[in-house]
Amino acid sequence: PYVVTEACIKCKYTDCVEVCPVDCFYEGENMLVIHPDECIDCGVCEPECPIEAIVPDSDPKAEALLEMNRSFSELWPNITRKKAAPADADQWKDVPNKYAEHFS
Ligand code: SF4
Ligand code: F3S
Repeated sequence: PYVVTEACIKCKYTDCVEVCPVDCFYEGENMLVIHPDECIDCGVCEPECPIEAIVPDSDPKAEALLEMNRSFSELWPNITRKKAAPADADQWKDVPNKYAEHFS
């Protein structure tokens, strides 16, 4: 499956959800996640994200976040339509290590 990485935190541009053929994105307050058991590995969402926050599970960046995507996708509501990004999204888009330094 594909995985939403920590780059999505505080950015949440939501371009990704519009293209998913199986609607497997789920929305938390600060980021989206992909349900890894529902994702059919089509890859169409990956280039839609303007900050490259979505990676295949073979990417080293996915490792830390795969199980997090699974557990939160069981708890958070499904999202299938693009919505406005947070007002301060552009200020967060180039911040590295958001999860470790700001949200853990
Ligand atoms: Fe949806 Fe395809 Fe992205 Fe998986 S890879 S989340 S099925 S668009
Ligand atoms: Fe996040 Fe990129 Fe989608 S910032 S909401 S993974 S378009």
